[in-house]
Amino acid sequence: MKREYVIAGLTLSFFVLLIIILSVTDTGVDVEDPNGDQNIQDDAINKPDIPRVVKNWPVDDLKLGQVTAVAVNSASQPVIFHRADRVWDRFTFNQTNHYQQSSLGPIQDHTVLTLNNLNGSILHKWGANLFYMPHGLTIDRHDNLWITDVGMHQAFKFRPRESVPTLIFGELFEPGSDSKHLCKPTSIAVATTGEIFIADGYCNSRILKYNAAGGLLRVIPNAAEFLSLQVPHSLALIESIDRLCVADRENMRVVCPRAGLFNVQSKKEPPLTIQQPDMGRLFAVAAKGKLIYAVNGFTNEMLPIQGFTIDPESETVIEHWAPENGFNNPHDIAVCANGSALYVAEIGPNKIWKFELVPPKK
Ligand SMILES: *[C@@H]1O[C@H](CO)[C@@H](O)[C@H](O)[C@H]1NC(C)=O
Ligand SMILES: *[C@@H]1O[C@H](CO)[C@@H](O)[C@H](O)[C@H]1NC(C)=O
Ligand SMILES: *[C@@H]1O[C@H](CO)[C@@H](O)[C@H](O)[C@H]1NC(C)=O
Repeated sequence: MKREYVIAGLTLSFFVLLIIILSVTDTGVDVEDPNGDQNIQDDAINKPDIPRVVKNWPVDDLKLGQVTAVAVNSASQPVIFHRADRVWDRFTFNQTNHYQQSSLGPIQDHTVLTLNNLNGSILHKWGANLFYMPHGLTIDRHDNLWITDVGMHQAFKFRPRESVPTLIFGELFEPGSDSKHLCKPTSIAVATTGEIFIADGYCNSRILKYNAAGGLLRVIPNAAEFLSLQVPHSLALIESIDRLCVADRENMRVVCPRAGLFNVQSKKEPPLTIQQPDMGRLFAVAAKGKLIYAVNGFTNEMLPIQGFTIDPESETVIEHWAPENGFNNPHDIAVCANGSALYVAEIGPNKIWKFELVPPKK
């Protein structure tokens, strides 16, 4: 019995060695191969689209407050969520996370602006007298708006252009950590199958998964999972690989646990983890196909504030990108459905950027 194992082991080692030798030889041949066109072509296919700033977009001064979120609707129009005259500063919350400025009433300006994708002009305004401290905005494929308000400690689903939410998560102005409460929720992702993921958020560092009707299904991470989040700040689903990618901000990484859609047998798999020294505090993620586009924010004077193109399956950063004069305080990112444009929202200076996603030169 034992001897058989030894023989099997030796045989295996021999083959592994053989494969290594062969692959090394192979690479040697490739480098010298004068007919290397095939390789260049393969590279081009594997290289992701490069974000290029669209200049003079928007053409108008949109007079924005802190732009905390951007999403794209089914007409490929960017929709932004901003704080108008409110700012989050050290007076906004007290030590127990209670919002301290509710006496000001809700923001009176429109907080949700739909922009023309070609010139950035405002097409439609919505969301006056509803919100206190805007944070997250997601638009699903039926154009429902999914909104989080950190001051209210709530998350909402609004049907297009309706001002009464059809779903409410959390209790108004009541921070908490049980299944009925949220505490400064940051971001929402909605699956095509209807499941809802709410990142909750600044205080609880957990993600709540609900069915389409708003019934709680599970909490991520659960006690048995080898995953600890520190301010999950933004979510992006990659349904084709059943992953929920999280901008795990204070852990300075992107983690992609299983989303658990389509009744995939949930094997005890570790989450995909993308972390490298230059990543810093990672604020936002958006998916395009199986890739993640991400932005970081201020971490320290040494770290550039920039965008990252990430391949979660290989757990690698494939590219870095930024506008010519850099970002200041990027807070959210979104990619349009057909993948041709990418938007980045910034807080201070308050700004919305449009990027074209350009295929790399052949
Ligand atoms: C924070 O504010 C809430 C309500 O505004 C109050 O009930 C609570 O006691 C305050 N917490 C502290 C630590 O002051
Ligand atoms: C942006 O485009 C729309 C639609 O073509 C047009 O109505 C609007 O005037 C344009 N805005 C500016 C500032 O050019
Ligand atoms: C993607 O959508 C935009 C906006 O509708 C459109 O202008 C563009 O041509 C589309 N691109 C592709 C590659 O389909």
